[in-house]
Amino acid sequence: MSNALQRDLERLVARVEREDGPQAAADPFRQTFHLMPPVGWLNDPNGLCRCGDWYHVFYQYGPFDVNGGVKHWGHYRSRDLLHWEALPVMLYPDQPWDIHGVYSGSALVEDGTLYLYYTGNVKHAGNYDYIKAGRGHNTALAVSKDGVTVESNTLLMENKDYPDGLTCHVRDPKVWAQDGKYYMVQGARTLDDHGQLLVFESTDKFNWTFLQALKTPHHFGYMWECPDLFCVDGQWFLVCSPQGVPHEETRFQNVYSCGYFPLHGDFRGEYSLGEFVEMDLGFDFYAPQTFQDGDRRLMFGWMGMPDADYTNPTTQRGWQHCLTVPCELRRQGDRLVRLPAVEITALRGAAIPAHQAQVFDLEAMTEPRGRMVFRDAAVLEWQPGLVTLSFLEGGAGRTVRRVAVDQLNALRILGDSSSLEIFLNDGQQVLSTRYYPQPEAQGIAITGAQARVWEMGAMSVTQAEL
Ligand code: FRU
Repeated sequence: MSNALQRDLERLVARVEREDGPQAAADPFRQTFHLMPPVGWLNDPNGLCRCGDWYHVFYQYGPFDVNGGVKHWGHYRSRDLLHWEALPVMLYPDQPWDIHGVYSGSALVEDGTLYLYYTGNVKHAGNYDYIKAGRGHNTALAVSKDGVTVESNTLLMENKDYPDGLTCHVRDPKVWAQDGKYYMVQGARTLDDHGQLLVFESTDKFNWTFLQALKTPHHFGYMWECPDLFCVDGQWFLVCSPQGVPHEETRFQNVYSCGYFPLHGDFRGEYSLGEFVEMDLGFDFYAPQTFQDGDRRLMFGWMGMPDADYTNPTTQRGWQHCLTVPCELRRQGDRLVRLPAVEITALRGAAIPAHQAQVFDLEAMTEPRGRMVFRDAAVLEWQPGLVTLSFLEGGAGRTVRRVAVDQLNALRILGDSSSLEIFLNDGQQVLSTRYYPQPEAQGIAITGAQARVWEMGAMSVTQAEL
């Protein structure tokens, strides 16, 4: 299936990648083991799944604008999470229901076919606020048998099909199969500015019935983006990225938040939501998505933050943002812990002295108080009760993030050319951040910890030969 608009966009994307790609690729801040856009802008991971031998990672891709622009679904695939193939854009904004952006969504895999559910964004011309009026947020389904090209695209629901009392902000369908049926959750903003999730049910993947809204008894943000709802080891978790949660000293420090509620009961009937726990306490983490891979739950997040007042100097080279490494989520009571997927460890090369580390993996046992300085730029400090992340330089406007931690015992840190992913106490809390050290900067200076450090090899990303 392709139309004239898609063919035009295809040519334009190919041209901008050909012309601007080399400059992005030569950027010293280009990452070595994280997925990035070839050029332009990346935000949310979309459509994460395993289909046969392939892991598919789609992402919100703005090839024409380093600060966003009209969103497409970019596409990578891999058999082992380490060797990646870059594939052509999967979804272009080429339908009447997605003309101003193919927004976030998810994949359902059935009999080797990918069912890609997404939000089509349409902004009507006129004097609108685009919250209560002027925007079409359409739910659409693109089907792909070969995992590379789309053979059909169908509009499933539009504003009038959603329940009453909502703004035009209804988006980011996450779909799964369960008990012989299909379920979908979508993020929503009510007319009186409450964030909530909408639950839909279907027997045929195309016709959807609204079941109920999942919400907190008290106000918790005005919009919940990018929902996910899944079970790990017998416990359900509702993940979302709420906007408008008031900032606190050691929680909700970013402009928008991201985390989960443990869900007790049944999302289709009686349920209650436990306390919201943030999935990441760093500067750059938002809109994660999970998928089932055999008996493990994997997750990628966007290592970025919408509407933040800090920046990324990579924009000077024509690209911005990356995904996190794939992580495995495990249950600990009502909590999720998160650690890098085991595959990442295969990128470890030689053990090296900390002061030589540039792109590295680090494991440490910590004393009650200590400090690490990464490449003369980012500083991690800990003492009983508190861990802080701050910058000497290279933060591009990032200031300080504080985490309440009874006692820090263990650290695992992945450092790429321009990011740190800091896992506290075996993944009980995590801080992700971008950082921009000088090329001649030292490695890591450590006090108050016994650390082992490995240099990290690169993932490979090649153009798929189709
Ligand atoms: C989250 C988000 C989603 C939306 C997408 C658009 O970062 O705002 O809610 O679908 O990004 O790119």
